[in-house]
Amino acid sequence: MAASTLAPVADERIIVDEDYGQVCDRVADLIATLITAKPTAVLGMATGSTPRGVYERLIRLHQRDGLDFSRVTCFNLDEYYPIEAASPHSYHEFMNRVLFSSINCRQWHVPNGLPRTPEAIAEDCLRYEELIRAVGGIDLQILGIGRTGHIGFNEPGSSPFSRTRLVHLDAATRRDAAAGFGGLENVPTQAISMGVCTIMEAKQIVLMASGASKAEIVRAALQEKPTAEIPATYLQFHPNLRYFLDEAAASLCLGT
Ligand code: GLP
Repeated sequence: MAASTLAPVADERIIVDEDYGQVCDRVADLIATLITAKPTAVLGMATGSTPRGVYERLIRLHQRDGLDFSRVTCFNLDEYYPIEAASPHSYHEFMNRVLFSSINCRQWHVPNGLPRTPEAIAEDCLRYEELIRAVGGIDLQILGIGRTGHIGFNEPGSSPFSRTRLVHLDAATRRDAAAGFGGLENVPTQAISMGVCTIMEAKQIVLMASGASKAEIVRAALQEKPTAEIPATYLQFHPNLRYFLDEAAASLCLGT
């Protein structure tokens, strides 16, 4: 695998590859190695365009090399609210389309986006956390990063102690999602997201970012003092986290 030809990064948590495909190869290999060593591994999954290449590779590893997901459990970070699971815009449907319909994973969970009372939502959020705990916690959490510095849907202002809950989406996040929904007015204003604390409890975290549009927020996530204004900065406290970046996304933190 060709690593980046740019100046080496001093920070060993940062792994830079030339392009997006190589980043995905590396992350898919990491996941395959984990599942081979621990067939009952618990994975935290992310949506967005960034992890899609990893999911394509996992499908290939399953179909071509027999990578077995039958005892793996997956938990997705978040879901829009309100939304029907079967909606083409739901994260449930996205995950089914880009990964789960093509592998043999039987246990995969996405927060429930169906409209219901605040009490019912709070109860389901607690249950989501309990489900994660019941299988021993998340072994490896995949994360993308939003332009606002959000992880999952933990928008600016999120507490480091937050857990799975109903959240309001930032205007910038909704604008970024507008094209997929056929217009800003169709983008839900809320979501259900694992909290910062839920994410930080994962034993290992892999944050992926690709493209120049992510360079500034990646730099901020790595270099700014941890702050609620950029929730991804909290990840600096995680003892087993690596940032898998292509050169464009890493361009503002190289040489630091
Ligand atoms: C959404 C998801 C995040 C994801 C982000 C970035 O907001 N809730 O989990 O990291 O989008 O998406 P992309 O990878 O498409 O840039």
